[in-house]
Amino acid sequence: MMVTRRRAIQILSGVTVASVTGVGKAQWGFAPSLSYPAIRVGNIRTLQNNQPLYFAYPDSRAQAILIKLGRPALGGVGQNRDIVAFSATCTHMGCGVQYKGGRLVCPCHYSMFDPTKAAQVYQGLASTGLPRIRLRIAQNGDILANAMEGLIWGRTKNV
Ligand code: FES
Repeated sequence: MMVTRRRAIQILSGVTVASVTGVGKAQWGFAPSLSYPAIRVGNIRTLQNNQPLYFAYPDSRAQAILIKLGRPALGGVGQNRDIVAFSATCTHMGCGVQYKGGRLVCPCHYSMFDPTKAAQVYQGLASTGLPRIRLRIAQNGDILANAMEGLIWGRTKNV
């Protein structure tokens, strides 16, 4: 069977025409969402701007980071749409990502991700953004993580 150049690029990049055009479940800008049991990450009353909160999601080996940015972010929750969460595992080679100076930085090879733009990579060796963790705020102010958009680095399945 002959594979066209276009099909080869689609296979290698993992991108299908359907995901690019928004057909099916994928949405422009976000990877398909994978739901896992919800966990409580924190409460909006105790969160402070730019004070990251590290937690594990969707299992105990998967480091994640929650940040109240103090400015609106793509996919952010809360009154100001400024609370976001991501996998804290770098998509280059799996080092732990940290929040510094308003950006997510990998200390290994200095890839940088923009938390206001769904952790899109804007500098360094990583070629994809960090998987985004979908959040929901309960009536009592608890922040719940309930899904992940994207695959954690180094895994064939998130759980
Ligand atoms: S492991 Fe993060 S930039 Fe290389």
